[in-house]
Amino acid sequence: MTYSIVYSSVTGNTEQLAQAIQQAVGATYCGKPSDEALAADTIFIGFWSTRYSCGADIQAFMKQLSGKKVFLFGTAGFGDTKEFYEKILESAQTHLPASNELIGSYMCLGKVTDKMQTHIKEGAPELYAEIKEVLAEAAHHPNQADLDELVASVKKALTK
Ligand SMILES: Cc1cc2nc3c(=O)[nH]c(=O)nc-3n(C[C@H](O)[C@H](O)[C@H](O)COP(=O)(O)O)c2cc1C
Repeated sequence: MTYSIVYSSVTGNTEQLAQAIQQAVGATYCGKPSDEALAADTIFIGFWSTRYSCGADIQAFMKQLSGKKVFLFGTAGFGDTKEFYEKILESAQTHLPASNELIGSYMCLGKVTDKMQTHIKEGAPELYAEIKEVLAEAAHHPNQADLDELVASVKKALTK
């Protein structure tokens, strides 16, 4: 199998996950969406969460894939439950054409910038009250335990 890792990361959280995967599998490409990544048969695709999905750059990259094995990974800042992550992953997955096979997925918390936290606090105080504990916890993620869990999920997906 040949591997590539494609990810979008604005503040470095998802990049930490990408680097942990890179250390574990030694991909031939690791970086932002690029045609170079298309040569591999297995592609790890990482994103930061926005509006219960991945961003437009990753959506556009996924749309051009066909016949690949895909492992989706991501970080989110506003929720940390299995249900919350599932909702995001399911939504992101809708951008992956059916000829591809999803071999696994992993999500964890990722710290949210102070600017974004202030934006929520001022613009959506009700939402802020709801998620402020998650935001506080997110400040400590991704941590080593998250990265270990990710690598374990990757290894499991590759031995299937
Ligand atoms: C503009 C903006 C929008 C965001 N929207 C969401 C969101 O809708 N849901 C969520 O769970 N996290 C949201 N976050 C938090 C990021 O997804 C989270 O901090 C992520 O770990 C950032 O990853 P990165 O460091 O790889 O860019 C948002 C962050 C920013 C800056």
